[in-house]
Amino acid sequence: MSKKIIIGNMKTKMSYEKVLNYVEKMKGKVTEPNVIFAPTSLYIPYFKEAGLKVGLQDIFFEKEGSYTGEILPTQAKSMGIRYAIVGHSERRIHLKESNQMINKKIKAGLESKMGLVLCVGESKEEKALMETKEVIRRQIFTALKGIDDLKNLVIAYEPVWAIGSGKIPSKRELQKIVVFIKEFVKEIKNGSEIKVLYGGSIRSKNIAIFNQIEELDGYLIGGASNDPEEFLRIIEVTEGL
Ligand code: PGA
Repeated sequence: MSKKIIIGNMKTKMSYEKVLNYVEKMKGKVTEPNVIFAPTSLYIPYFKEAGLKVGLQDIFFEKEGSYTGEILPTQAKSMGIRYAIVGHSERRIHLKESNQMINKKIKAGLESKMGLVLCVGESKEEKALMETKEVIRRQIFTALKGIDDLKNLVIAYEPVWAIGSGKIPSKRELQKIVVFIKEFVKEIKNGSEIKVLYGGSIRSKNIAIFNQIEELDGYLIGGASNDPEEFLRIIEVTEGL
């Protein structure tokens, strides 16, 4: 079995001083090619200097032009940054990112030959209404409209209610959704295979549960990726499988 992909979605949690301390601790310790750090973009050069593989937490949907505050995929590429997360629920919630916008981001990112992680997942309310599959279907269908070559894309299932809450889905529940996502993509994309990651309250103390799910291809780790010792423990346990 191929190694699991591990992506640290470090969000906006670290100050400059903390970043310097973090990269110092990580230097030379993470050599697996499938571990990617997605810090606040401002700090990316420090991670690169420490020899760590980096990705962006988001990208913009145009190739060129003036878009104050944004990062274009072409700019990322020019700096050797080959990965980006798109459609994270925090951006959907706070910046009103729509599935259509995410679709444009994926097209722009893939055109620049970036490797992308598309985040999908239902809210607590949608889960209570048993709408999980419907929400995921809609998110994937629209985000992937007009895109046929999926080899540089993975999907991260991140239930909104699990993010930063300490709550996680049961093993059975998660396994079912991972399989559902893989089957759905096959159905709408001519039999294409896709890798599926999980994200939401992953810690070293619960990683063993997730590692038992064979259909899972890896993890998107938020809070825990900001703690160097904790993140190293998760990487060690998972990559040592
Ligand atoms: P969490 O976040 O691990 O802090 O729950 C995951 C994510 O938002 O990607």
